[in-house]
Amino acid sequence: MIFRVKRFDPTCDRRPSWRAYTVDVRPKMSVLDGLFWILEHADSTLSFRYSCRAGMCGSCAMVVNGREALACRLRLAHVAAPVHVEPLRSLPVIKDLVVDMTPFFEKYRAVDPFYRAEDPAVTGPAAAPAVVRPESRELVDLQLGCISCGACYSACPVVALNPEFLGPAALNRAYVLSADEREPAAGDRAAAILGDGGVHACHAVGNCVAACPVGINPLLSIQLLRKGATDR
Ligand code: FES
Repeated sequence: MIFRVKRFDPTCDRRPSWRAYTVDVRPKMSVLDGLFWILEHADSTLSFRYSCRAGMCGSCAMVVNGREALACRLRLAHVAAPVHVEPLRSLPVIKDLVVDMTPFFEKYRAVDPFYRAEDPAVTGPAAAPAVVRPESRELVDLQLGCISCGACYSACPVVALNPEFLGPAALNRAYVLSADEREPAAGDRAAAILGDGGVHACHAVGNCVAACPVGINPLLSIQLLRKGATDR
């Protein structure tokens, strides 16, 4: 199977270029397995990021045939050839398929993503499970599963056009915390949610929903944050 991988080494390349490799595909191989095949048999200089190889850590998020995916979870049997593999969008490329996640996590931090209960007895690692309004319990459980892979951030056209926009993952985290009744109304978080880069910058395109590899709906979180702000 032909793999076309976008390569870029800032120490010697002026711009990215596509390089083709013929990968010896075996049954049940994933895109990540294909990249390992290239590394071991064709080009030991190829760089990519991974850790768990089980779809849990989010490290291997990249763009495969134009769509964001976790390379370790995407089977080659479900991918059309030739397979085009490139790094996540809207993030600086460190080398080849490895991006600098700093802008993503800076925006994540801007929504004060840490749980801070008013009651100190329930803070810390042994904190009690989130207490949410009963009607939002199921949704919060779902939205809590974000693995911070950056796929939604890469797929979002507003992120690409507006550097101020916090992005789907950060705003989804803000929603999860705002739905927890133990949380005091955090001033910094509220300011970030309603600021220039907050929920009102979202154009509701919905690419984030399609891109999320773990089934989260960040657009719904953003809409609920907007509704909450309007209600207040
Ligand atoms: Fe952890 Fe793919 S290596 S999600």
